[in-house]
Amino acid sequence: MADKMWAGRFTGELDAAADEFNSSLSVDCKMYEADIRGSMAHAAMLGQQGIISREDAASLIDGLGAILSDLKEGRLDFSAGGEDVHMFVEAELTKRLGEVGRRLHTARSRNDQVALDVRLHLRDAGMEILEKLKDLMATLADLAEEHADTVMPGYTHLQRAQPITYGHYLMAYAMMFQRDMERFIDALTRMNVSPLGSCALAGTTYPTDRGAVAKKLGMDGVTANSLDGVSDRDFAIELAAASAIAMMHLSRFSEEVVLYSSWEFKFLELDDAFSTGSSIMPQKKNPDMAELIRGKTGRAYGDLIILLTIMKGLPLAYNKDMQEDKEAIFDSLETLSKCLSIFPPMLKTAKVRKDNMRAAAAKGFINATDCADYLTAKGMAFRTAYKITGQLVARCISDGCELETLPLDVYREYSELFDEGIYEAIDLDRCVTRRTSEGGTSPASVLKQVALIRSFIG
Ligand code: ARG
Repeated sequence: MADKMWAGRFTGELDAAADEFNSSLSVDCKMYEADIRGSMAHAAMLGQQGIISREDAASLIDGLGAILSDLKEGRLDFSAGGEDVHMFVEAELTKRLGEVGRRLHTARSRNDQVALDVRLHLRDAGMEILEKLKDLMATLADLAEEHADTVMPGYTHLQRAQPITYGHYLMAYAMMFQRDMERFIDALTRMNVSPLGSCALAGTTYPTDRGAVAKKLGMDGVTANSLDGVSDRDFAIELAAASAIAMMHLSRFSEEVVLYSSWEFKFLELDDAFSTGSSIMPQKKNPDMAELIRGKTGRAYGDLIILLTIMKGLPLAYNKDMQEDKEAIFDSLETLSKCLSIFPPMLKTAKVRKDNMRAAAAKGFINATDCADYLTAKGMAFRTAYKITGQLVARCISDGCELETLPLDVYREYSELFDEGIYEAIDLDRCVTRRTSEGGTSPASVLKQVALIRSFIG
């Protein structure tokens, strides 16, 4: 077993199982680029501040750059092992540079190092999520524009409620994803400050320039309290929460894709490229992708709970428990990212069965509100109009017809206010086009919503 970094204090060796148990390399090796970039900025600052010589700083930066490209290009891997990615990189650097490599860790602790690395790594992962959310919203905007007047039933309690358009329905999700983007942007902005220089917990006696390191790493400033700098993981929790909420939205949407592609609805037909067959039932075409997204939402919720639970009882400052944060937050963002890659093409390639949507909208008296509104427009109090319409619906059910086919003389048995105009008032397309209120389902209103989403994603 190689000498541990802390070998000076210890006479005995770590038990082999304990050594393996203690190691996070298999998880945090994903952050190697963030770790190396952070170390390069730190080395540059040490040189500029005269804490180490400029020549040593230059060798450290070169050595780190070489390790980075070797890892990227597969000339170096993590098989040598180590406690974590920070130890791995430092050990490799020292192997290559000798004594100079041992200067890198001046005025730094792994506690502030890891706090920095996770932020840098998650910043990239978060930016990738933002791009994918934008992609999804662009897909929704295009589809909504195309289907601004595609009539379908709108539901409450999963009972047919009022006619809406498919475009209106899609824009509802676009608005949710806009808020998801805002949550990510907010979390990413707040976490973009450098904890480096907090050192182990108390700061340092070296004349460091924390601001210079932060600036070099594209961060907006430095954390203001060193205990907090090394102990804070709320940035990961915020991202995991934003991720869990976005997954919840994707999951609801997926649930509807599953439902709408069933024979009972058949509003959507998924493309072969995004469906699977059954090993036994030859007729089956299963919406596995949507189901998996729905299922993976459980992982994202679990990841959030893991993080909250890890942190809830930790005394300040750093505790090794916090090493467990990475698996959860990486998994959360990777899960969301994978789902965001699958969902837009699945939706874009699905065939929209306008005929079935319209047929479903034509049944179930979803224009009953419009019938009541018709009477209200003629001066009747809404509650009275509501009651009469209810009686008319009951009459249609017993006569086996729809409001559209109920004869005018029957209407007039219930109220003298009815005339030929009722048929126009309850016409499906008119029910939709007249709902011009802001945010409503009329094609004009939907196109305004599309414009809002497009201007948000730029
Ligand atoms: N691998 C550790 C983690 O992820 C790095 C920090 C270790 N610090 C320490 N004092 N043991 O949390």
